[in-house]
Amino acid sequence: MTENRKDQHVAFAEKFYDAAAASDFERVRFIHHSFSETNKKNVSLTTQLVNTTLTSPFFINGMTGGSDTTAKINEQLAIVARETNLAMASGSASITLRDATTMDSFKIIRKTNPHGLIFANIGAEHPVENAKRVVDLLEADALQVHVNVPQELVMPEGGRDFSGWLTNIEKMVRSLDVPIIVKEVGFGMDSKTLRQLEVVGVKTVDISGTGGTNFASIENSRRKEKEYNFLENWGQSTAISLLESLSQQAKLDIIASGGIRSALDIVKALALGASAVGVSGQFLHWILKDGVDKTILHVQEWQEQIQTLMTLLGAESIAQLRKTDIMLSGHLIEWCQARGID
Ligand code: FNR
Repeated sequence: MTENRKDQHVAFAEKFYDAAAASDFERVRFIHHSFSETNKKNVSLTTQLVNTTLTSPFFINGMTGGSDTTAKINEQLAIVARETNLAMASGSASITLRDATTMDSFKIIRKTNPHGLIFANIGAEHPVENAKRVVDLLEADALQVHVNVPQELVMPEGGRDFSGWLTNIEKMVRSLDVPIIVKEVGFGMDSKTLRQLEVVGVKTVDISGTGGTNFASIENSRRKEKEYNFLENWGQSTAISLLESLSQQAKLDIIASGGIRSALDIVKALALGASAVGVSGQFLHWILKDGVDKTILHVQEWQEQIQTLMTLLGAESIAQLRKTDIMLSGHLIEWCQARGID
């Protein structure tokens, strides 16, 4: 295996990582109430996702695999997942269908964490047979199917024909033995997309919005002339995508991801109705900068901080968090007014 696109994605994601980057979560505030009436020891972080109980409401979201460097990253992330009981997704495993020598860089995840909850990942352009192959490869408990049109279009070697994706997803939902999670890759979603997914039988969707890793910027940096910078602000933020999902939340389990950098971001996403929260860029940054042991400590710190915030908000469960009072500001209000979201 040689240096490839997967290594470049990791390198650019880390180069562009910005702990202080603006995110719409700043425009989502909790209203403080003086009476919490909650005992911290009764606060539960458990949540339901893909027919399973997660002991933490956040997980390591899809990133990588496909090279020697990314095999090491997958191994390190899988150790963190094992030691903290977090669910973990691999990056897109479609490369294994073309190049069998890359398989071990994905299999390492299951090898390292034999009993953990693991999601495989593939693009929506693939037929059912390919989806089954990557699920088997990772012995996965669920399959993330990514939708990433802006990224493909900015990628010099990316796809240009995006027909048939919804049909492929529908076939995957019908034919696979494991649950399907359809996910964006940091461009967000809207209510129309969510309705389309619900119609084809999808039950779980990761709205993955803007505010964190930006694949228009990453792919543009891989182009010689960098002529696609006009797409670098494309898409909906994670907060806006969650607001867009409100009308679909009775029918779909929503995962929030994109720009999650703190326990407070996680709690805000859960309060806006997410069942769980995916984190990519922040985990990559921790692993590369701090290594495995410190990353485990970061996870434990987040778990503790989420429990603290839930105590402050008087919520003993994730379900109760959804009833907390939230104040929106700035363009989030305009968005809701223009789109008729109450
Ligand atoms: C990603 N992401 C991603 N998503 C996916 O579905 N398949 C993939 O192969 C990848 N690859 C990938 C590589 C790297 C290095 C990163 C950082 C991310 C996208 C990821 O799952 C997520 O949707 C976005 O990164 C937004 O979340 P963050 O990074 O802001 O937390």
